[in-house]
Amino acid sequence: MPEDLLVAHASELVTLKGPKRSRTKSEMSELSIIRDGAVVISEGAIVDVGKTDAIMKEHQAKGVEVVDASGKVVMPGFVDPHTHLVFAGSREFELELKVKGKSYMEILREGGGILRTVRDTRAASDEDLYLQAGRRLESMIAHGTTTLEAKSGYGLDLPNELRILEAIRRLGVTYPADIVPTFLGAHAVPPEFEGKPDDYIQFLIDVVIPEVTKRNLAMFCDVFCEKGVFDADQSRKILTAAKNMGLGIKIHADEFTHSGGAELAAELGAISADHLAKPSDDGIMAMARKDVAGVLLPGTPYCSMSGQYADGRRLVDLGIPVALASDLNPNCWNESMQFTISLACHKMRMTPAEAITAATINAAAAIGMDKRIGSIEASKRADIIVMDVPSHAHIPYRFGTNLCSLVIKDGKKIWEKNPIHLF
Ligand code: NIG
Ligand code: FE
Repeated sequence: MPEDLLVAHASELVTLKGPKRSRTKSEMSELSIIRDGAVVISEGAIVDVGKTDAIMKEHQAKGVEVVDASGKVVMPGFVDPHTHLVFAGSREFELELKVKGKSYMEILREGGGILRTVRDTRAASDEDLYLQAGRRLESMIAHGTTTLEAKSGYGLDLPNELRILEAIRRLGVTYPADIVPTFLGAHAVPPEFEGKPDDYIQFLIDVVIPEVTKRNLAMFCDVFCEKGVFDADQSRKILTAAKNMGLGIKIHADEFTHSGGAELAAELGAISADHLAKPSDDGIMAMARKDVAGVLLPGTPYCSMSGQYADGRRLVDLGIPVALASDLNPNCWNESMQFTISLACHKMRMTPAEAITAATINAAAAIGMDKRIGSIEASKRADIIVMDVPSHAHIPYRFGTNLCSLVIKDGKKIWEKNPIHLF
């Protein structure tokens, strides 16, 4: 088998070696680090992992290209399991409203927020939608994300929801990142159905979800289950229909108020419940019993200025398989899993090791990809990043700059920090 690439001399090779499933409790602290570590990549997959000395003896003679990672951390590419990648426009002007005390839900109720982005998205051409999302995706890749989930949810009618899902498919083909698509038609009630949420739900069930599944455009169905958006009964109805049509389930759960989202995720066997700032104890216990991933999005309370961060520390201690995601969206324009990890440590009291586990193997499990990616082990895909820091503890510690110096996807170098300086 030809060898493509050998990454050697990593000061820390963070392998996350272990079971091909999400890690819980103390397992989340076990990064399985090899000092002075090396990885051998062949035909897009990892074929050997170990100490540089031993690996070099065995493989270097074969003329394979060597990447010298001296003084750097080598780790699995970040997996971002919750993004709203495809939308048009921006909402930078809402920041001033939030600074002056308006809440996220007030802005939405006044026709801004998601509904503002729905207007912009419907007005954008297919090409523009693709190009705007592509620029964000490029930046995510440059920050070390090699696999992500992307949701629809700014179309809220049949043609526009399909257009967004088609753009997601096209981005996954043209960019070197794997994208898992999620249908989020139940993100808000669109203006055409104002005051008639149940009619909109019926339309989603009768018309939109069947078309999405017929065209094989989504793997999961998600719902914004929140007071003032879709309640638990309405969410149950949509998600049950989607499940019966073959989609996996995700829920925006308990973001601002306790809305029964965590309980519903456990009841329906969802792969994840996301946000979880205000879950009930019963909901959390039910999630732990059913092994539902808790996808935490610390960028969101940061941008919404709600101050309501999920209690990551408690969720880890209670045995929830905690994952982290950027929640990239026009309210929270966060393209960086590095910043997300930093927030998780500073605002949710997760340790650096737990946060890194949550952004790699546990994030992969939250989108059903844990058998393929999320750790550096023989037979997994060679999605690997080199971070220009001497140990993993520096990743959340040094925030606000891009620490990534090389991104390898499916065994190929796809992004490298520009080594040219004009000073
Ligand atoms: O996950 N909370 C609902 N949906 C997104 C925000 C979408 C938006 O504001 O445009 C979220 O935070
Ligand atoms: Fe979201």
